Amino acid sequence: MSSTIIAPSMLAADFANLQRDIEMVNASEADWFHIDIMDGVFVPNISFGMPVLEAMARHTKKPLDVHLMIVDPDRYIQTFADLGSAILTVHYEACTHLHRTLQAIKAAGMKAGVALNPHTSVALLEDVINDIDLVCVMSVNPGFGGQSFIENTYQKVAQLKALIHKKQAATLIEIDGGVTSNNAQQLVKAGADVLVAGSFVFKSPTPVATIAGLKQLAGS
Ligand code: DX5
Ligand code: ZN
Repeated sequence: MSSTIIAPSMLAADFANLQRDIEMVNASEADWFHIDIMDGVFVPNISFGMPVLEAMARHTKKPLDVHLMIVDPDRYIQTFADLGSAILTVHYEACTHLHRTLQAIKAAGMKAGVALNPHTSVALLEDVINDIDLVCVMSVNPGFGGQSFIENTYQKVAQLKALIHKKQAATLIEIDGGVTSNNAQQLVKAGADVLVAGSFVFKSPTPVATIAGLKQLAGS
């Protein structure tokens, strides 16, 4: 992996100025848009749904990395493909038949991601890692932006990197939650390929420079 992928989480954008914030990301060094979909059942929060994503996708000029924090995600795979998602990530904890779900995501033309809650061991992915394009390691409990980073994440990333290596898989490692300039470098050292950042980017008075700073830190 030559350069770390930076994916601003639109959950932290100003929803009354979504187009402005999307244009900011378009003009920045960010690589992807991270889109958090929450159903109020899998996580104790509701973010936004298809009509809002459809409106956003009319302005986004970079790949949509969609993170589904919903129960029974199989119901909506085709819908998110039709909305233009490049990557569709489902939660390990929300899938009874994970292998089948991954195949369905790929059959719909998207890259397939699996997110792990902080309590879920990376070892559980051993038998399916070669079918996963991206593992999203949750470094906070999913449901809200602006939470503090869980330090145990570093060892999880290193363990996952070793598993990917052992299985000769091409899986990317994404970190989601509490990412800032304080942990970006260490996360990349541990093996992260993609850094999601919400509050750190959107609460910054100079978000374009903040994204550039993260990109630089992650590359050094
Ligand atoms: C949390 C979401 C994250 C969140 C990250 O459930 O999956 O993508 O937006 O936000 P920050 O960077 O503020 O922790
Ligand atoms: Zn997310």
